Amino acid sequence: MKLFSPAKINLFLKILSRRADGYHELETLFERISLGDTIFLKTIPSGIRLQTNARNIPSDSSNLVWQAADLLQKRYGVKKGVAIRLVKRIPVAAGLGGGSSNAATVLMGLNRLWKMKLSRKELLSLAAEIGSDVPFFVLDTSFAIGKGRGEILKKINPPKAPIWHCLVKPPFGISTKEAYQGLSKHLKASPKQKLTPLRANVNMLLHSIQKGDQERVKRLLTNSLEVYLDKRLTSILKIKSELIRQGAFVSLMSGSGSTVFGLFRSKLEAARAAKILKKINKTWKVFIASTW
Ligand code: C5P
Repeated sequence: MKLFSPAKINLFLKILSRRADGYHELETLFERISLGDTIFLKTIPSGIRLQTNARNIPSDSSNLVWQAADLLQKRYGVKKGVAIRLVKRIPVAAGLGGGSSNAATVLMGLNRLWKMKLSRKELLSLAAEIGSDVPFFVLDTSFAIGKGRGEILKKINPPKAPIWHCLVKPPFGISTKEAYQGLSKHLKASPKQKLTPLRANVNMLLHSIQKGDQERVKRLLTNSLEVYLDKRLTSILKIKSELIRQGAFVSLMSGSGSTVFGLFRSKLEAARAAKILKKINKTWKVFIASTW
């Protein structure tokens, strides 16, 4: 079985509060994009075998893909095993949900391969056990609003035309945990400060996207996690301004970073910007992708 495992970006990410369980309550707008990995699944007599082309990700039980297969086997007493081959293109620790998407793809793939007949609802609940971003990929939609820790989802109708993006990943990554820790540290230093002193909300942004009102989109795109970064913020800001210089009508860091995306009016404009950005800094990984 050959499967496509797409990435996501967060067009909007507002952190509302810190919860007693250590997670943060948030409001986000997910967009699924055409950049993705390929996953091959094959039933074997028992166990889980994972093989990948990427040197910087584990191929043991710490990989979310492994955890997805293990969860299905244990929870439903599945005796069969699986050999998984993961061909990575989505950068790691990049705010693009690569690991989460891979886990969701394996959950859905094994549900078919092993003829488990699990409902979407059951798959969504299993996905939330694996990670906060995994349910979005199980929902099978281009856009969704996420609340709670990101797992309470509402499907959103896409705009008429797909959006084109140019994505730039600097040579460093940022782990999700680290990004949220930066935010907590900042709050301890100045506890009176509101988490996001912004009036923008996700519904306002959504309305503007669906109407194609680029001026408003520009003002409403926001990411609470951007400002709490340490010295890496300088690189993020540099990429943001280069994307604008190359014609993006807006640019923002995705999720917990480190990828920055720019939105463009056409594929041609995104491709032209990507070509120049690759030359500006050879350590940046540059991609173009559309809504998917
Ligand atoms: O859910 P997931 O395992 O992907 O989250 C990784 C880490 O990111 C968590 O351990 C937590 O520190 C942080 N996080 C958070 N609030 C969220 C999502 C993630 O604090 N809504």
